[in-house]
Amino acid sequence: MNIVHTVQEVRQIVKAWRKEGLSIGFVPTMGYLHEGHQSLIQRAVLENDRVVVSIFVNPMQFGPQEDLESYPRDLEHDAAICEETGAHLIFHPEPEEMYLPDFCSFVDMNGLTKGLCGKSRPVHFRGVCTVVNKLFNIVGADRAYFGEKDAQQLAVIRRMVRDLNMDIEIVGCPIIREEDGLAKSSRNTYLNELERKAALILHKSLTIGKRLLESGERDANTIISCITEKINTEPLAKIDYVDVVDALSLEKVDKIERSVLVAIAVYIGKTRLIDNFSFEV
Ligand code: PAF
Repeated sequence: MNIVHTVQEVRQIVKAWRKEGLSIGFVPTMGYLHEGHQSLIQRAVLENDRVVVSIFVNPMQFGPQEDLESYPRDLEHDAAICEETGAHLIFHPEPEEMYLPDFCSFVDMNGLTKGLCGKSRPVHFRGVCTVVNKLFNIVGADRAYFGEKDAQQLAVIRRMVRDLNMDIEIVGCPIIREEDGLAKSSRNTYLNELERKAALILHKSLTIGKRLLESGERDANTIISCITEKINTEPLAKIDYVDVVDALSLEKVDKIERSVLVAIAVYIGKTRLIDNFSFEV
């Protein structure tokens, strides 16, 4: 497995693979890899001849008050995970390699990016769309793999690929959880012992919502109220949002008549965590 830092190096390697007729899978990440990322790499390895993993903490998707500086980084550990999972190439650029001093082109989106996480993170999806677009152009993969934990991100990327006729298949992969139900996330490392226990409220409250849906409840406000009530029993938790939205358009729904996404964002102390589940009627 190679680790490269420049766009030119990635292009050279991928070009040689293409000459051999090999298919290419791509897993974009911000590093500090955990079993969630590993499951994406595993799937990519199964479905492609060669797998590229990018590790880049993208400054453009962080707001001014967010955790860009403190975001956890550990290239050595990440490289070991990529190697043992069977990836062939890590692309680990410096911000200067990705964004020249006079960089001024962006990919942005209306609609899908305005609700859910977009409400409290107004610049986030413009940064995600721009960097993912750049990474797709740099790697030129056949398929790219994203986790369903970031459900809004996955929907946004699928829409960007469709709207802009990008020649790449987007593969969504299931949420990977700790044994007690907490969704794996690089940001879980911010939690102290008490907060780690409190964070279980995300999964517990969603489980209540899911049971209600499974038992036939179709009123979105009832689902939202029950989830909200449960989260509010946890003193360390502060709700950012609890929403029931259409799975494709991400617009809020009142009556649940087609596939929906039930998504939440909750601060546990200073750490903002997200989780969700999809429900098909
Ligand atoms: O999901 C992430 O880790 C990031 O948003 C992504 C897709 C790598 C873009 O920076």
